[in-house]
Amino acid sequence: MGFEFTQVRAPAARQMALWCAALVALAVHATDGAAEQDANARLSALEATAPGLGETMAGIQLHMAKLYFAAKVGNRRLAHYEMDEIRENLERAVLQRPVEENGLRLKPLAQALETGPLARLEQAIDGGQQASIAHAYRDAIRDCNACHAATGHDFIVITMPKAFPVPNQRWTP
Ligand code: HEC
Repeated sequence: MGFEFTQVRAPAARQMALWCAALVALAVHATDGAAEQDANARLSALEATAPGLGETMAGIQLHMAKLYFAAKVGNRRLAHYEMDEIRENLERAVLQRPVEENGLRLKPLAQALETGPLARLEQAIDGGQQASIAHAYRDAIRDCNACHAATGHDFIVITMPKAFPVPNQRWTP
């Protein structure tokens, strides 16, 4: 009798333990699934509301204009600050759109601008040479527009600044 009892009970207990393990596994899986769904929803919301390349470029445009007026009056600290913002935004631009619709990779063009005209512009700002500043600035704008043309945006043409970009900031040091 005792023998029979254990024979019957032992598999039942084992089965129960297996069920419990399965339930726990299911519960954990369900929690994982919910967390993943939540993360996906938040990621989609972030993507939908994140500023695009156009906004980054509009920022670059503003920083370029501010840099010009700061450099013109020898405000090195402000000019360097604007330059850092331009560099940061160029790096962001490459992350936002690594490859343009026409298959062109943005990184080499952004790097050419950074290591060429922008680096020369930085040196000219440090040296305080107005002629070199103007020269490097023109070259930088040429690179901006070269990328616009290469990416199919030849209608976006940056020019030398003609007026202060904002009415409420001081350019002099
Ligand atoms: C590596 C390529 C590249 C470089 C370099 C580049 N741009 Fe752009 N720019 C683009 C692309 C691509 C667009 C179009 C963005 C879009 O599709 O929304 C754009 C758009 C713009 C716009 C239009 C934004 C608007 O809302 O009117 C401005 C302004 C602009 N760029 C300024 C600049 C300036 C200033 C520089 C140089 C300091 C520069 N860009 C350098 C690729 C570049």
